[in-house]
Amino acid sequence: MNKVRLGIIGIGGMGGAHAKEVLDGKVPRCELAAICDIDTSLFAKYPGIKAYDDSAKMIRSGDVDAVLIATPHYDHTTIGIDALQNGIHTLVEKPISVHKADAEKLIAAHDDPKIKFAAMFNQRTDPYYIKIHDLIKKGEIGKIQRSNWIITNWFRTEAYYRSGGWRATWAGEGGGVLVNQCPHNLDLYQWLCGMPSSVIAIGGLGKFHDIEVEDDVSALFEYPDGATGAFFTTTGEAPGTNRLEIAGDRGKLVFEIARGVRKLEFIRNEVPAGEYLKTSSNRFGVPSIWNVEVPISGGTGEQHLGIKKNFVAAILDNVPLIAPAEDGIRSVEIANAMQYSLMTKKRVDLPMDGAAYEAYLKQLIAKSTFKKVTDKNTDSNVGGSFNI
Ligand SMILES: NC(=O)c1ccc[n+]([C@@H]2O[C@H](COP(=O)([O-])OP(=O)(O)OC[C@H]3O[C@@H](n4cnc5c(N)ncnc54)[C@H](O)[C@@H]3O)[C@@H](O)[C@H]2O)c1
Repeated sequence: MNKVRLGIIGIGGMGGAHAKEVLDGKVPRCELAAICDIDTSLFAKYPGIKAYDDSAKMIRSGDVDAVLIATPHYDHTTIGIDALQNGIHTLVEKPISVHKADAEKLIAAHDDPKIKFAAMFNQRTDPYYIKIHDLIKKGEIGKIQRSNWIITNWFRTEAYYRSGGWRATWAGEGGGVLVNQCPHNLDLYQWLCGMPSSVIAIGGLGKFHDIEVEDDVSALFEYPDGATGAFFTTTGEAPGTNRLEIAGDRGKLVFEIARGVRKLEFIRNEVPAGEYLKTSSNRFGVPSIWNVEVPISGGTGEQHLGIKKNFVAAILDNVPLIAPAEDGIRSVEIANAMQYSLMTKKRVDLPMDGAAYEAYLKQLIAKSTFKKVTDKNTDSNVGGSFNI
């Protein structure tokens, strides 16, 4: 095979943007072989492209080698399992699944290593996060003691929530800001700082919007090695903040994106903090610091295009995936733990009980009396949603 025949399932806002990049020839050795959507009115935008109203038919058609799933979240699991079990390379939008138990089922369906299975964690292509990852892994900041991410600039209007019947409902989306906007941050957070061993969260469901799911979350994390973390997010704050701070024994990294300006600060302790506090005779002394210049080029990176190019190269050249879909269960589990803690007002230990959370979610769906208002007549340009 020297070309990947890609089928895109779900050609709404995000799937449509993926289709455009492929049609514009931006993904070498990849052709848009087919599209699929249950809303057949979208097909007119793709003259000459084979169109399906049922993903099962597309998967079995012989028209596609690979699929990109950009549907509402619950379908990621069912369509993903169907594609993988039929030997189709699969790239799934974030989150890979709504909850941990579904993510486990989806991952279990990937039993053939020749079939590539990737997730659209486009922010992993961002040179700044790659550099931060590099610095941590090389031990430049020493053992992580504390981290916090204030990611409150995911502002969304009521028009956004009204734009899809599935959005911000337990039955259609399975959550709010943690399941839709934050998977990127939670994926990066676990990639940089590891998995917490327990989570406690406060916040609110429909605090700022007429929705039934979480739109405001403040959480504290504990890590197996004693490190602590904090994560703050909302879709109701403007102007919001995007500031990640990771403090280690040997220094601190601060990455902030404010009004389009990106700034990474690396402050290095001349003597590790743990050593200094034991050996210094100065009661109020602090270690001397160096401000380290970290050269970074490449702006925001290739983002969605980079993940699609990497997926194609993994299929054709067997290069490693930037974001193997298996990694996606971690951001799902952290999101679920925060949702569960927020709603039950209890601390949640990880690994969490995926079946218990699934049962809880099913109860929320069964008991829901929320009446969703939908208005498709809103701006559909997905580009404004990326927050990069
Ligand atoms: N990576 C990113 O930066 C990013 C940005 C936005 C959205 N997303 C993700 O993309 C996915 C889609 O979000 P969106 O904003 O494009 O939503 P959307 O509502 O605009 O589009 C979803 C499309 O899927 C179609 N669909 C629904 N069920 C289907 C099914 N069973 N089979 C085929 N098509 C079906 C709908 O008709 C619709 O056209 C979500 O997972 C979302 O989280 C990712």
